[in-house]
Amino acid sequence: MRKKILAANWKMNLTHVEAESYVETFLNEVGEVNDVEIVIIPSFTSIPTLAQASGNAPFIRLGAQNLHWEKSGAFTGEVSATMLRALFVKYVIIGHSERRALFGETDEMVQKKVHTALEAALRPIMCVGETLAEREAGSFQKVLRQQVEQGLKGVPVEHLSEVVLAYEPIWAIGTGRTATPAQAEEVHAFLRSVLAELFDQTAADRTRIQYGGSVKPENAEELMREPNIDGALVGGASLDAHSFARIVRATEKTLR
Ligand code: PGA
Repeated sequence: MRKKILAANWKMNLTHVEAESYVETFLNEVGEVNDVEIVIIPSFTSIPTLAQASGNAPFIRLGAQNLHWEKSGAFTGEVSATMLRALFVKYVIIGHSERRALFGETDEMVQKKVHTALEAALRPIMCVGETLAEREAGSFQKVLRQQVEQGLKGVPVEHLSEVVLAYEPIWAIGTGRTATPAQAEEVHAFLRSVLAELFDQTAADRTRIQYGGSVKPENAEELMREPNIDGALVGGASLDAHSFARIVRATEKTLR
């Protein structure tokens, strides 16, 4: 019922020139992908190149790593939803833990960005996740509930499934330390129950919850086999076209 979604979050890596050869290699390796949704999320500077390079591969969707909540104006250095839409961007990451930790993004800002994205028909990939200290203190469910509740406040129930929730335990991002499939599944099931409580069960069942944090070709299949894990947000392992292609193939395998 929920189509799996694999997103490559390049973070601040790869130039637009590198992006072009990436797409070529990636397409050569994966052929056509129909059963899994593929999103490539480069830096803003590479979006036009990617839009062009993936022009013949409509199954590749474009994403952006951030946006500003205002429509336009004196916000030096920011990018608006309209600008992204004009480049055929479909998804936008909101509230990544790096933005929260390094750029002061709060739950309130996340909420404004989610609304702005939805109003512009962009699909937010809203990230939530606990720190190692929060996990060890046993308070991580409370932290996650708060992030979900604040971030999605005011979203009409009929729009919930346009949001992709990304569970990214901070202790697993870029550390090589992945949550085990069982650990991740437990949190995903919990997050779905929070969505059901805040919205309703049908909307919660339709909404995709991605896992992120050291996903690689070697562990993708077992993670993607879990019933509540609807895809992955991949950082480091998505920078190499071969390795992202292997993650796609590992995911396709779980559907057969
Ligand atoms: P990682 O990053 O795959 O390098 O751990 C994931 C993310 O931050 O989205």
